[in-house]
Amino acid sequence: MSSEVATSAPNEAAAPRIRISEAGRYEGQRVQIQGWLYNLRKSGKIVFPIVRDGSGMIQCVAVKSNLPEEVFETLKGLTQESSLEVTGTLRAEPRAAGGYELDVSNVHVLQRVSEDHPYPITPKEHGVDFLMDHRHLWLRSRRQHAAIRVRHQVIKSIRDYLDSHGFTLVDTPIFTPAACEGTTTLFEVDYFEDEKVYLTQSGQLYNEANIMAFGKVYCFGPTFRAEKSKTRRHLTEFWMVEPEMAYADLEEVKRVAEEMVICLVGRVLEERKEDLKVLERDTAKLERVTAPFPRMSYDEAVKILQSKGSEIQWGSDFGNTDETLLTQDYDRPVMVDRYPSEIKAFYFAPDEHRPEVALGVDLIAPEGYGEIIGGGQRIHDLALLEKRLADHNLPREAFEWYLDLRRFGSVPHGGFGMGVERFVAWMCGLEHVRETIPYPRMLYRTRP
Ligand code: 4AD
Ligand code: MG
Repeated sequence: MSSEVATSAPNEAAAPRIRISEAGRYEGQRVQIQGWLYNLRKSGKIVFPIVRDGSGMIQCVAVKSNLPEEVFETLKGLTQESSLEVTGTLRAEPRAAGGYELDVSNVHVLQRVSEDHPYPITPKEHGVDFLMDHRHLWLRSRRQHAAIRVRHQVIKSIRDYLDSHGFTLVDTPIFTPAACEGTTTLFEVDYFEDEKVYLTQSGQLYNEANIMAFGKVYCFGPTFRAEKSKTRRHLTEFWMVEPEMAYADLEEVKRVAEEMVICLVGRVLEERKEDLKVLERDTAKLERVTAPFPRMSYDEAVKILQSKGSEIQWGSDFGNTDETLLTQDYDRPVMVDRYPSEIKAFYFAPDEHRPEVALGVDLIAPEGYGEIIGGGQRIHDLALLEKRLADHNLPREAFEWYLDLRRFGSVPHGGFGMGVERFVAWMCGLEHVRETIPYPRMLYRTRP
């Protein structure tokens, strides 16, 4: 059999269509579920289809003697991921995963997956490349589904946190005329009439303009980095939330970053218990993420790393292994501040008492998840900013508007950026950021 089979029409007007996640409200009632066949177990005159509908999964029980012959036969031969509408009565079943089972009275198949071209992702093990090539289907799998739901929760909670703390969402452009984080990691785009623009690396520079109008703002959108890093933490397209605050110094930036992270971890633990279970996340580790986070300077961090056998010298940036080593003795994120200005972007304010270090901070997650937040205090002095632009060989014309912010009511200010995918990887306990975004874009992956 290979063609579509439409068995019975959805002649079930009396049964309300519900989502599986709502089953608890309909116990004992006849309902209809619209979904896809996840799995099918057969046991003589009974078949147990497991149906998923995006909100959850439910085991259905179809007994031969209770059903029209053709309905039972259709179900019995149904293929994985066929789409179907199932009508039946919901029954509480404490042993079932979601707490309910559905006693089937009717089934309507919308599209039957052909045996000649079966669903490619089966319960057997597949390699990551194969799964990534089938990302458009892989998203239906339990763990992928769970990770994307955690991502949704993280994004929602970020917005909730910032919206309830006086921040205004002010969107920043994606086509930009200049670099924010450095010229080596820009994607160039052909614009009209021989003009070149770049995909944004960060909305920060625009945030700095926006705070002078709104006080506290954030931008939240896709961000692009052309660095040729092939690590488990790097995407070429990722989502970043960037809060920025007028009249804020480095300490205030650190306080807000800490408070937001604690809020997010709490919300994920509260709202996404089931998904974390599917992901087999050790939630005890996340429960320990409370204030205060340990704080140390770059100088101290270098000493700690050297004492742990790292080759690092003062003046160089931390690699992935350094970050992992540094957080080894802590059960919560570590805040490292005052990095050498040399290795930081042009906009960082120098420490008044030690101009060779920048008033920047990185938040490094425990368990080897690495830097999840980078930020700090910006230069607010016009002359110094002009000098930095020149030192970094940045085109002055493209930054004239940015210099204006230092001409018209300049104030100390700061903010930070948090990469959503790295944060979600940490929450989910996932080895690689590629599973935290629906369609990852990486050095060697731009499909599907
Ligand atoms: O440290 P970064 O480069 O900082 C900025 O872009 C600042 N302008 C932010 C600001 O202050 N408004 O990036 C911030 C965060 C990192 O800590 C990391 O979580 C994430 O963005 N990130 C990446 N995530 C995935 N793939 C990449 N290639 C990333 N690069 C940065
Ligand atoms: Mg950084």
